[in-house]
Amino acid sequence: MTGITLAGTQVTLESRADESLTATLYRAGYAMRIACKRGGCGLCRVHVDQGQISYNAHVCESVLTPEEREQGITLACRAVPTSDVTISVPEEGRLRCVAPAFTRYALREQSGAGKGAAQAGGRDWVID
Ligand code: FES
Repeated sequence: MTGITLAGTQVTLESRADESLTATLYRAGYAMRIACKRGGCGLCRVHVDQGQISYNAHVCESVLTPEEREQGITLACRAVPTSDVTISVPEEGRLRCVAPAFTRYALREQSGAGKGAAQAGGRDWVID
Protein backbone atom coordinates (compact mmCIF):
# COMPACT_ATOMS: atom_id res chain seq x y z
CA MET A 1 0.00 0.00 0.00
CA THR A 2 1.12 3.51 -0.72
CA GLY A 3 0.15 6.76 0.91
CA ILE A 4 -1.45 9.71 -0.82
CA THR A 5 -0.88 12.95 1.03
CA LEU A 6 -3.04 15.93 0.15
CA ALA A 7 -0.70 18.91 -0.02
CA GLY A 8 -1.44 21.59 2.53
CA THR A 9 -3.33 19.23 4.83
CA GLN A 10 -2.54 16.63 7.47
CA VAL A 11 -4.37 14.03 5.40
CA THR A 12 -2.57 10.93 4.14
CA LEU A 13 -4.80 8.25 2.63
CA GLU A 14 -3.90 4.61 2.17
CA SER A 15 -4.10 3.57 -1.45
CA ARG A 16 -4.88 -0.03 -2.32
CA ALA A 17 -2.89 -1.97 -4.90
CA ASP A 18 -3.57 -0.77 -8.46
CA GLU A 19 -6.01 1.85 -7.21
CA SER A 20 -6.04 5.16 -9.06
CA LEU A 21 -5.73 8.46 -7.23
CA THR A 22 -9.40 9.27 -7.79
CA ALA A 23 -10.51 5.80 -6.69
CA THR A 24 -8.67 6.27 -3.39
CA LEU A 25 -10.04 9.77 -2.94
CA TYR A 26 -13.63 8.70 -3.59
CA ARG A 27 -13.32 5.61 -1.36
CA ALA A 28 -12.09 7.96 1.37
CA GLY A 29 -15.10 10.25 1.11
CA TYR A 30 -13.62 12.92 -1.12
CA ALA A 31 -14.96 14.20 -4.39
CA MET A 32 -13.37 16.20 -7.14
CA ARG A 33 -14.19 17.26 -10.67
CA ILE A 34 -13.99 14.31 -13.04
CA ALA A 35 -15.77 13.36 -16.23
CA CYS A 36 -14.66 10.55 -18.51
CA LYS A 37 -12.71 8.54 -15.88
CA ARG A 38 -10.60 7.05 -18.65
CA GLY A 39 -7.84 9.50 -19.38
CA GLY A 40 -9.56 11.31 -22.19
CA CYS A 41 -10.82 14.69 -20.99
CA GLY A 42 -8.20 16.12 -18.65
CA LEU A 43 -10.63 17.35 -15.99
CA CYS A 44 -8.97 15.31 -13.26
CA ARG A 45 -5.56 16.99 -13.53
CA VAL A 46 -3.54 17.01 -10.34
CA HIS A 47 0.05 17.90 -9.63
CA VAL A 48 2.27 15.22 -8.18
CA ASP A 49 4.46 17.23 -5.80
CA GLN A 50 6.45 14.21 -4.60
CA GLY A 51 6.60 10.53 -5.43
CA GLN A 52 5.99 8.41 -8.48
CA ILE A 53 2.89 7.32 -10.38
CA SER A 54 2.23 5.11 -13.35
CA TYR A 55 -0.83 4.80 -15.52
CA ASN A 56 -2.83 1.62 -15.07
CA ALA A 57 -4.45 1.94 -18.49
CA HIS A 58 -4.21 3.94 -21.68
CA VAL A 59 -4.55 7.72 -21.51
CA CYS A 60 -5.05 10.02 -24.47
CA GLU A 61 -1.62 11.41 -25.39
CA SER A 62 -3.01 14.78 -26.42
CA VAL A 63 -4.71 15.55 -23.09
CA LEU A 64 -1.47 16.63 -21.41
CA THR A 65 1.32 18.47 -23.15
CA PRO A 66 4.88 17.21 -22.77
CA GLU A 67 5.58 20.31 -20.66
CA GLU A 68 2.69 19.51 -18.30
CA ARG A 69 3.94 15.95 -17.90
CA GLU A 70 7.43 17.23 -17.15
CA GLN A 71 5.98 19.59 -14.54
CA GLY A 72 4.32 16.68 -12.74
CA ILE A 73 0.76 17.16 -13.95
CA THR A 74 -1.05 13.83 -14.14
CA LEU A 75 -4.53 12.46 -14.77
CA ALA A 76 -5.80 11.28 -11.40
CA CYS A 77 -8.39 8.92 -12.87
CA ARG A 78 -5.68 6.70 -14.38
CA ALA A 79 -2.65 7.47 -12.20
CA VAL A 80 -1.67 4.78 -9.73
CA PRO A 81 0.92 5.68 -7.10
CA THR A 82 3.98 3.45 -7.16
CA SER A 83 5.45 5.14 -4.09
CA ASP A 84 4.13 7.40 -1.39
CA VAL A 85 2.98 10.57 -3.14
CA THR A 86 1.97 14.09 -2.29
CA ILE A 87 -0.55 15.63 -4.65
CA SER A 88 -1.97 19.10 -5.15
CA VAL A 89 -5.41 19.41 -6.64
CA PRO A 90 -5.86 22.72 -8.46
CA GLU A 91 -8.71 24.93 -7.30
CA GLU A 92 -10.70 24.16 -10.45
CA GLY A 93 -10.55 20.48 -9.46
CA ARG A 94 -12.87 21.33 -6.53
CA LEU A 95 -11.54 18.72 -4.14
CA ARG A 96 -13.84 18.46 -1.15
CA CYS A 97 -14.60 16.04 1.61
CA VAL A 98 -18.21 14.91 1.09
CA ALA A 99 -18.35 11.92 3.42
CA PRO A 100 -15.96 12.47 6.33
CA ALA A 101 -17.12 9.29 8.05
CA PHE A 102 -15.45 7.30 5.25
CA THR A 103 -12.22 9.25 5.61
CA ARG A 104 -11.39 7.76 9.00
CA TYR A 105 -11.08 4.30 7.48
CA ALA A 106 -8.76 5.44 4.74
CA LEU A 107 -6.43 7.67 6.75
CA ARG A 108 -2.92 6.36 7.14
CA GLU A 109 -1.90 6.07 10.75
CA GLN A 110 0.79 8.64 11.39
CA SER A 111 2.88 8.76 14.51
CA GLY A 112 1.40 11.36 16.77
CA ALA A 113 -1.18 12.49 14.23
CA GLY A 114 -3.82 9.82 14.82
CA LYS A 115 -6.97 9.51 12.78
CA GLY A 116 -8.70 12.53 14.11
CA ALA A 117 -8.99 15.19 11.48
CA ALA A 118 -9.20 15.81 7.81
CA GLN A 119 -9.19 19.00 5.84
CA ALA A 120 -10.18 19.62 2.28
CA GLY A 121 -11.61 22.40 0.24
CA GLY A 122 -10.76 24.92 2.93
CA ARG A 123 -12.88 23.13 5.53
CA ASP A 124 -11.77 21.16 8.55
CA TRP A 125 -13.47 17.90 9.37
CA VAL A 126 -13.11 16.40 12.78
CA ILE A 127 -13.55 12.66 12.86
CA ASP A 128 -14.16 11.00 16.19
S1 FES B 1 -11.74 12.19 -15.72
FE1 FES B 1 -11.29 12.53 -17.80
S2 FES B 1 -9.14 12.33 -17.90
FE2 FES B 1 -9.61 11.81 -15.85
